[in-house]
Amino acid sequence: MPKITILPHAELCPEGTVIEAASGTSICDALLKHDIDIDNACGGVCACTTCHVIVRAGFNSLNEIEEDEEDMLDRAWGLQPHSRLSCQAVLQDQDVTVEIPKYSINLAKEGNH
Ligand code: FES
Repeated sequence: MPKITILPHAELCPEGTVIEAASGTSICDALLKHDIDIDNACGGVCACTTCHVIVRAGFNSLNEIEEDEEDMLDRAWGLQPHSRLSCQAVLQDQDVTVEIPKYSINLAKEGNH
């Protein structure tokens, strides 16, 4: 099974961790299954950007980005060239490394109040 290395995130995963998930699993589902409580405001249907991750290794091994995902990603906080919506990013057979951005769009908005 491919491994997902998660880089440290102050709240969700302070030490960083490595998990395993079956090919065909979305990164979002894999994280949630391992109690890494990434935001997923729309429930994984590509209608928010709260599940945004930056893929630091293995980006090209994931399924291709579809247009819907690209459109949504444009609104994500802290967009990077290797950003994905984790609910749309499906593991194939290679390991990946992901970084969960410091903020999701929901938190960024709350922070502005
Ligand atoms: Fe909403 Fe992924 S959970 S786009």
